[in-house]
Amino acid sequence: MVEIDRQTVERLDREDELAPYRELFQLPEGLIYLDGNSLGPAPKAVFAEMEHAVREEWANGLIGSWNEAGWFDLPRRLGACIASLIGAEADEVVVSDSTSINVFKALQAALALNPGRKVILAEQAGFPTDLYIAQGVQAWNKDLELRLEGRDGERIEELIGPDVAVVLVNHVDYRSGALRDMAALTASAQAAGALVVWDLCHSAGVMPVDLGGCRADFAVGCSYKYLNGGPGAPAFIYAARRHHGRIAQPLTGWWAHRRPFAFESAFEPAAGIGALLCGTQPILSLRALLPALAIFERVDLVRLRAKSEQLTELFIELVERCCAGHGLRLLSPRAASRRGSQVAIGHDHGYSVVRALVERRVVGDFRAPDVMRFGFAPLYIRYRDVWDAVERLGEVLESGLWREPRFAVRSIVT
Ligand SMILES: Cc1ncc(COP(=O)(O)O)c(C=O)c1O
Repeated sequence: MVEIDRQTVERLDREDELAPYRELFQLPEGLIYLDGNSLGPAPKAVFAEMEHAVREEWANGLIGSWNEAGWFDLPRRLGACIASLIGAEADEVVVSDSTSINVFKALQAALALNPGRKVILAEQAGFPTDLYIAQGVQAWNKDLELRLEGRDGERIEELIGPDVAVVLVNHVDYRSGALRDMAALTASAQAAGALVVWDLCHSAGVMPVDLGGCRADFAVGCSYKYLNGGPGAPAFIYAARRHHGRIAQPLTGWWAHRRPFAFESAFEPAAGIGALLCGTQPILSLRALLPALAIFERVDLVRLRAKSEQLTELFIELVERCCAGHGLRLLSPRAASRRGSQVAIGHDHGYSVVRALVERRVVGDFRAPDVMRFGFAPLYIRYRDVWDAVERLGEVLESGLWREPRFAVRSIVT
């Protein structure tokens, strides 16, 4: 990007074919929302959708809505929508439970498919829930070993050996935004006889993901970040078709049964992706996800990724130009192709700076110990938002506003 000035970014907005999507979201006036990597905004269509789901389907339809409103099929129907965004077949994905629970199911299913091996390989610096679930799985089966990148070696690729059953890895690192090479890592893990579980929380809905092309085994992800499904929206889980019919996981609830309404006393897993379900799902949350995913029906993911790279690149360039001398450290990869849709910047008082910036109507977030995160969701973030956000960041730093003690008071959620 050459010669950046305010006119240039306004021109980029005018020429942006994704610009009309912004109108589909309810965004507070004047707010620059750079936290869609934590919680996406409400799609405008969700209000009518929820009104209908509650008034018509629940209040009027009552129990009949399980059939008439298609409630029972929602996990599969929504799974098919997400499948098209992550390079999967429609019947390889279901929406269900939380990412944490799905990590548990995927790990157990992978371990069961690789019974002779005893090592789970994961990332020490990965999102804590992935690490904690891996620790939990290991704690309940003392024969297993948990090997960690960052503790037992520098790079995950070097830790893959003939004893590794499953590799659990994040596609985009939640803190730095570093993007893994899915094809290369999957191939090297599988060449060594391991299976791979990908956590797509920070890539689904913001870039093309090709699980099928990479021959991934399992994947999980949430729908409340770039998919805009709402706070605590249900997560998704993917299993490659070649594993269907052989999927075993310990949460053998009735929705995972081959014939749930036969009410048989013995568990028999569903033949396909349904084996990864567990029990009754939060239908109202699933209904909120429906209009959110409908937005993606016509989105060109290649264009989305191109804009995402431009936004993060523009942000980094402007920060380097306008905020030098204030102790900022770029923690994200410098090459756009190696990062997701967020930029992580270190600052010794990152929490205070983020809070002061929120007061100036720019919302990012903070991850301990010193990371300021700024997410750029290309469906609703404009080039001019990047310009204005950096201008306000510069003002907060230059004026020392962040030094006011009130900005150091920690909230529960950072
Ligand atoms: C990479 C990653 N995995 C998992 C989670 C959260 O999992 P859950 O929705 O079960 O809390 C997050 C949340 O930010 C995340 O960033």
